[in-house]
Amino acid sequence: MVDEKRPLRSRQWYGGNSKSAFMHRSWMKNQGMPDDAFDGRPIIGICNTWSEMTPCNAHLRGLAERVKFGVYEAGGFPVEFPVLSPSESQTRPTAMLYRNLAAMDVEESIRCYPIDGIVLMAGCDKTTPALVMGAASCDIPTILVSGGPMLNGVVKGERVGSGTAVFRWVEELKAGTMTESDFLAAEAGHSRSAGSCMTMGTASTMAAMVEALGLGLFQNAAIPAVDARRNQLAQLAGRRIVDLVREDVKMSRILTREAFENAIRVNAAIGGSTNAVLHLIAIARRIGVDLTLDDWDRLGRGVPTIVDLMPSGRFLMEDFYYAGGLPAVMRALAEHDLLHRDALCVAGRTVGEQVADAEVWSREVIREWSNPLRAEGGIAVLRGNLAPRGAVLKPSAASPELFKHRGRAVVFSSIEDYHARINDPDLDVDERSILVLQNCGPKGYPGMAEVGNMGLPKKLLEKGVRDMIRISDARMSGTAYGTVILHVAPEAAEGGPLAFVRTGDWIEVDIDARRLHLDVNADELARRAAGFTPQVPPISSGYQHIYRTHVEQADLGCDFDFANMSRELSLQRVSH
Ligand code: FES
Repeated sequence: MVDEKRPLRSRQWYGGNSKSAFMHRSWMKNQGMPDDAFDGRPIIGICNTWSEMTPCNAHLRGLAERVKFGVYEAGGFPVEFPVLSPSESQTRPTAMLYRNLAAMDVEESIRCYPIDGIVLMAGCDKTTPALVMGAASCDIPTILVSGGPMLNGVVKGERVGSGTAVFRWVEELKAGTMTESDFLAAEAGHSRSAGSCMTMGTASTMAAMVEALGLGLFQNAAIPAVDARRNQLAQLAGRRIVDLVREDVKMSRILTREAFENAIRVNAAIGGSTNAVLHLIAIARRIGVDLTLDDWDRLGRGVPTIVDLMPSGRFLMEDFYYAGGLPAVMRALAEHDLLHRDALCVAGRTVGEQVADAEVWSREVIREWSNPLRAEGGIAVLRGNLAPRGAVLKPSAASPELFKHRGRAVVFSSIEDYHARINDPDLDVDERSILVLQNCGPKGYPGMAEVGNMGLPKKLLEKGVRDMIRISDARMSGTAYGTVILHVAPEAAEGGPLAFVRTGDWIEVDIDARRLHLDVNADELARRAAGFTPQVPPISSGYQHIYRTHVEQADLGCDFDFANMSRELSLQRVSH
């Protein structure tokens, strides 16, 4: 079974009859493994973010058993291990703070264990990019199995998406128009099965990115978590990873520039989350593809959003699967020459082959190209003296009347400052103002919280104002929308120009021209910058110190600055 010309990496642990081989095998045998588990068959790691504190991933322990069936069927030997599982719903201050730590956990686990190929098990927002980033640094054969979305939320006959009705229910409870027992029942109806958030938020977006990149099997993104076909997919992934090891198909054969370009266009067509910008850039840098913010702007321009899913549309991931799922969207892109058909998928087929026969079963959910949900689905990258290294905005979520706007800044120096003053009746703000939030970027928060879509002042809401321009160095939840300019780089805590905006300054935004300009002359800005000291909260742990010292800015994906410095060495040390 062993190819002596290309011996498997695991043979360094289990091959021969040395003292160390005896010890490696013997200790594993305390789990009941027979002699032939170590006869040279591929050792497949199953890297699992199962955790009861990550409810979206709580079913992944069971799903991993299906992967194991497949690995055994194909003649491999599966070994499952846990890694850090940052939960979007339970982790404070923000799960993004721990994405890089989880990525390090994955990378070091792969490097230190006798693994020839790996199946990554993820679902919640940060677990997917963390696992792909860690594995990308190692570049061994890899497949990702997503946990799949929850079933549609249903409360009193109403279809509700993850998070889409919570604000309303909280207000109704406060107003006395909803009882506490109905409130508690809504909690259960809102999240009524295993799986990840079932809107087109960040979790669903990242599952779609995995499929679009070719790193997941056909329909990986949308099969509901509790649908039996999710189990089938896991079992098939177990079989397939053994083949990938035998064929020596490393991750870098899959994650090519063409694959990333496909993913960016898919993100536009599905109306995906702005968080995907950060995660894909971080993954690309780890695998050695030079993906930039400008690629996002250029490739997504003119791609319509054809999927009608919440938060911008009406349906949910369960509906999306029944309507044809991601392959149907990718086929539409291919038919408009917006897909690199020759990119390779882990299934062993090209993307073009994989989606050639995809069909649409509901034109309400997956719309005609000529009748899109939004004509412009891409991500706009704005630049100017307020964001020299860029800022992002989702035009499809923005108000057209604000695409070209000049407004007076109302500045909040932190999210705490924002909460303290936003509803102050004396706050000097009107509907033409621009809300500016500082110190919520990667270093400033730290962890780049999802607070960029600041709620509007109560007094303007009461006047019927529904959108205003908001600018920050923060992120935004994939379920949020509005004319929200995010990821400003460099961030305020790094001394970026955002730190020097003062209430009353004029700001000009021109989305079509991709311009973000602070109308303050350079001398005045230099005067404000003199003697700059970051306004950041104190560090509360050793890890936070590492994070703040080494995290890169949003335009580089917020990875650690050392993650890519060691890439070449890392590749050598885990190579077969
Ligand atoms: Fe985990 Fe949404 S909170 S996927």
